[in-house]
This record gives sequence, structure tokens and C-alpha cells, in this order.
Amino acid sequence: MEIAGRVLIVDDDDANRLVVRTILTGAGYEVHEAGDAFAALDGIDRDTPHAVLLDIKMPGMDGLGLIENLRRRGVDVPVVVLTGHGDEFTASSCLKAGADAFLDKPPERAKLLLALQGAVARGKLAEENRRLKGGQEEPPLLGNSVSMHDLREEIARVAPSRATVLIVGESGTGKELVARRIHHLSPRAREPFVRVNCAAIPEELIESELFGHEKGSFTGAVRKQIGKFVQAENGTIFLDEVGDMSLRTQAKVLRVLQDGEVEPVGAGVVRRVDVRVIAATNKNLPEEVKAGRFREDLYFRLSVVVLQTPPLRSHPEDIPALVEHCTSEACTEYNRRPKRWTREALDQLAVYPFPGNVRELKNIVERAVIMQLEDEIKGVDLLRSAPGAGAEDEGLFGAPTLAEFQERAERAYLVRQLQRHNWNVAATARAINTPRSNLYKKIEAYGLKRED
Ligand SMILES: Nc1ncnc2c1ncn2[C@@H]1O[C@H](COP(=O)(O)OP(=O)(O)OP(=O)(O)O)[C@@H](O)[C@H]1O
Ligand SMILES: [Mg+2]
Repeated sequence: MEIAGRVLIVDDDDANRLVVRTILTGAGYEVHEAGDAFAALDGIDRDTPHAVLLDIKMPGMDGLGLIENLRRRGVDVPVVVLTGHGDEFTASSCLKAGADAFLDKPPERAKLLLALQGAVARGKLAEENRRLKGGQEEPPLLGNSVSMHDLREEIARVAPSRATVLIVGESGTGKELVARRIHHLSPRAREPFVRVNCAAIPEELIESELFGHEKGSFTGAVRKQIGKFVQAENGTIFLDEVGDMSLRTQAKVLRVLQDGEVEPVGAGVVRRVDVRVIAATNKNLPEEVKAGRFREDLYFRLSVVVLQTPPLRSHPEDIPALVEHCTSEACTEYNRRPKRWTREALDQLAVYPFPGNVRELKNIVERAVIMQLEDEIKGVDLLRSAPGAGAEDEGLFGAPTLAEFQERAERAYLVRQLQRHNWNVAATARAINTPRSNLYKKIEAYGLKRED
């Protein structure tokens, strides 16, 4: 039987949800549930229900707050509000905020189904329009393990506020994805999200990158530059690899966080900006603070809320879902017929420790999709994917194609040269006679890090 539609029930009372769920599943609806408005925020984004049945009074964020958040972000899912006695005033505010209808609690079966029928029909139409427009969707944060579930819930809770968030976790665990998701679920979703990779910008340029500069304020400043903080006005700035910022830049960033003011290089005046700050790092910041490489006051400012992305080896139960998702993406991208993974191949992945986390898993899947021509992927060569394996000579000559060989050779060469120059990018670039910008690009592209 085809489902009548997807509905999300939002109510903090388990018993109420059960009553409504029973009616709806009986009528052929696919039902999802959320125990508060934050969980609803995440659920609406993930399960894209055709309609939402919403309780008004809930701890944390109430129903009205949820509707306002959705409408501000341009999410137009139809909402049917359930009201108890004395909620009439809030109910009419909900209608003004964009709810479709409201019903008394507990709802009568016939009235409930009628209201939902209309709402779901509208929701389906909206879905069809979105599909036709083919709007680019936010990449999903996958995984149903407890740790990923908790992470998603924390994201939904912190997103609506403008609290500064610090995301910590190993390389390739999805820190950037988390940052984007926080922005996407926040009331700022339609404003800019601006990422700054603090590790990839040379020390002498980072200030003007962040804060902008006036024309002629230093040699090479041939035109005025708008800083990233100003570009992110009303939206979110994402300070990626924040642990790699110099102490000098840290002082300036601290000032923005404290006073909301930026000063473009050479401008001599300050300007107020309204920007939400999200930062990420795979360094242990408390240790960096102890070692004197990171300002303690900045650390405290950034770490109002700390989210931790778990290493993949701690939630291997998510591997199959990730593999499936990455496989279908890769098949589309590389124009391959859909592929299946055999039990044996999946078992192989289940016990692999994934030092490069989800990014490594993605690479393994992509490689398999490109290299293996059969519809079934029966096994993978895991040794090849290990980070740093490319630096070994043996790995080098084991390259299956010329392009792959060149890539591995270049990577190994750059790592060695960077090590020789103590990871001083300027010195390395000079020594190997390549523009510094080129070297930065390669470092970023190969994901080279000091630990390598
Ligand atoms: N839970 C997840 N679900 C789906 N894709 C994921 C997940 N976690 C990570 N990815 C994917 O893995 C890749 C790496 O993620 P991301 O760039 O966010 O990691 P990171 O923690 O910022 O790594 P680094 O510290 O190296 O910058 C991306 O392609 C991302 O889309
Ligand atoms: Mg990252």
C-alpha cells in the first residue's frame, strides 16, 4: 500500500503522541515523532515530513518558536497546531506565524484526519516543486548510532541560539559538516555561511582576510578587500582549524568576540558586525593553552558550547549506511551503474580502524566504484588507503595509473620537503621554487598535516 504521507508528531507527552500515532498509522501515514521542538528541527530536516502536528506548550522552545524558526529559514512545511484549553491566544499567534490550522486537544479522529489530509496534500505539492527545481540540498549527517544521534540532537539544540560553538574531533569526522548543519538549522540559514581555513592562509595575510583592508594599506594591497567577518554579516563565520591561528591573530579575533567590532587593516576605524562564530579544530586546545600556543581567554570564549565528532572506529555500526550513501553518490558522480557491496567486503570494512575516519571511508568507496567494473564490490585494498601509505616508495610504484603515481609522488615529495623546512610554508615554497599560493593549494588538496 502506498503511504498516505509522512507526518511528524511533535509533543513532549509520550501518551499524547501514542494516541495520535495510533490514529495516523491506522490511516496509512508514515509517522515520525519528536519529544521537543529541537528534536523536531532535526526531524523536519532529515525526514522531510509532508506535515507537522505540533503541540504548543513544550519545555525549551515552544511550538510558536519552532514555527518562527521554520518560516524564517524558508521551510514551508504545513503545520497543524494542537491546543489545550486556554491556548487560544497562542494558537492565533501560531496562525499568524504561518501555521495551517489548529485543533483542540485531544483531537477527534475525523477532524484530525481531515486537517491532515489538506496539510499533507499541500506538503506533497511543495515537495514536488522542490524536486522540479532540483534545489541543492544540504549534505546529510548520517549515522544512527547512539553517538551520532546524540550529536544531531545537540546540533538541533544549539542551532537556534547564537551561542559560539567549538567543534572538536579527529580529522575527517565531519566537523565541517556539523558547522554547516548548525548554520542550516539556525534562523540565520538564509544569510551567508563563510568558511575560513585558518591553517591555509599565510600568517601575514590572515588579518586582512578576516578583517579586510583598505587600498594601499600595505605593499600588495592594490585594492580594498572586504573581510570575511563583514562578508558573514548577519550569518555565520566558520573558523576552521582555529588551533592553527597565530597568537597575534587570536588577539584580534578575541576582540571581535568580545565587542563585536572589526577593524580593517589600515582603516583606522572600527565597524560593528553581527556574526555568529563557529570554530573547529582537531588539536587539543586545553593542551595548546598550557603550552602557551593558544590564548586561554579566547579558548573560553570559543568553548561556550563544545561539540565532539566521534571517530568512526567508535561507531562502526554506522559504516554500512555510510558506505551505501557514498556508493550511490559516487555512482552518480562517476556515471556508473548502481553497485552493491558483498557481505565479505562490508565485513572487511567493519574491522578496519579508519585512521582517516569518514573522509577515508569515502575515498575507499570512491576508489572501489571507479576501479571495479562489476556490479558487485567483493573486496577492497585497504592498505592503499591508509594515510601516508602514498609516501612509501612501495606504495608509489604500486600505483595503478600514471595519474595516481604522479599524485602519490607529489604528495610524498611535498611532505618530505615540508618536514625538512620544519613545516614553514614560505621557506619550503622558496626552496622548491613554487609560488607559495600553489603550495598552500596542494597542502589543502592533499590534506597535509604536520603529524603526517
Ligand atoms: N556523519 C557523516 N555523514 C555523512 N558524511 C560525513 C559524515 N561525517 C563526515 N562525512 C563526510 O566526510 C568528509 C569529511 O568531513 P569533514 O570535512 O566535515 O571533516 P573534518 O572533521 O572537518 O575533517 P578535517 O579535520 O580533516 O578538516 C566530508 O566529505 C563529509 O561530507
Ligand atoms: Mg575540516
